[in-house]
Amino acid sequence: MRALVVFESMFGNTKVVADAVAEGLATRMRVTAVEVGVAPVAIEDDLALVVVGGPTHAFGMSRPGTRQDAAKQAERPLVSAGPGLREWLETVQGGSPQVAAAAFDTRIDKPRLPGSAARAAERRLRRLGLRIAVPAKSFYVAGTPGPLVAGEQERARRWGADLGALVAAGRPARWVT
Ligand SMILES: Cc1cc2nc3c(=O)[nH]c(=O)nc-3n(C[C@H](O)[C@H](O)[C@H](O)COP(=O)(O)O)c2cc1C
Repeated sequence: MRALVVFESMFGNTKVVADAVAEGLATRMRVTAVEVGVAPVAIEDDLALVVVGGPTHAFGMSRPGTRQDAAKQAERPLVSAGPGLREWLETVQGGSPQVAAAAFDTRIDKPRLPGSAARAAERRLRRLGLRIAVPAKSFYVAGTPGPLVAGEQERARRWGADLGALVAAGRPARWVT
């Protein structure tokens, strides 16, 4: 059983979450985690699960303009300097209900703003024909450049482990909170 995790990240926080999710999933299946710029161009049917994650920008998935804004605020090169999750989800080929899918994002903890990149990504995953296994999930950062709020890395690992167990058991969609 094989899972693919595709992540976008500006300052590195979503990458940390993606790696933790992958670590959790790896308790149940083989996992490859890739930065969105080098993600495969097609979702193959032999995948059991696709998980996508990215930062919430302007209440949704990033766009070229919001990524430029992030670059101006970054002290180091961006983790994702090329296309984002939105562009990958718009161009990726394939997708069938045999493949389970889930989306996560990172967002600012305080104040909590409306809008979530994960919810937008989930809508797109559904339109691609994938079977949404669990609802979109948010993990929180303390400010735009981070860091992650204490405990979020471990929460991401647990979410990945629970998701992996659900998909490995082949059960129909059920909420993993
Ligand atoms: C241009 C821009 C717009 C943002 N808009 C939002 C937003 O609407 N809601 C929110 O909660 N966080 C917002 N943020 C904060 C990001 O979610 C935060 O920078 C991200 O979670 C950090 O993850 P990363 O290091 O993987 O990029 C924004 C950040 C940037 C740079």
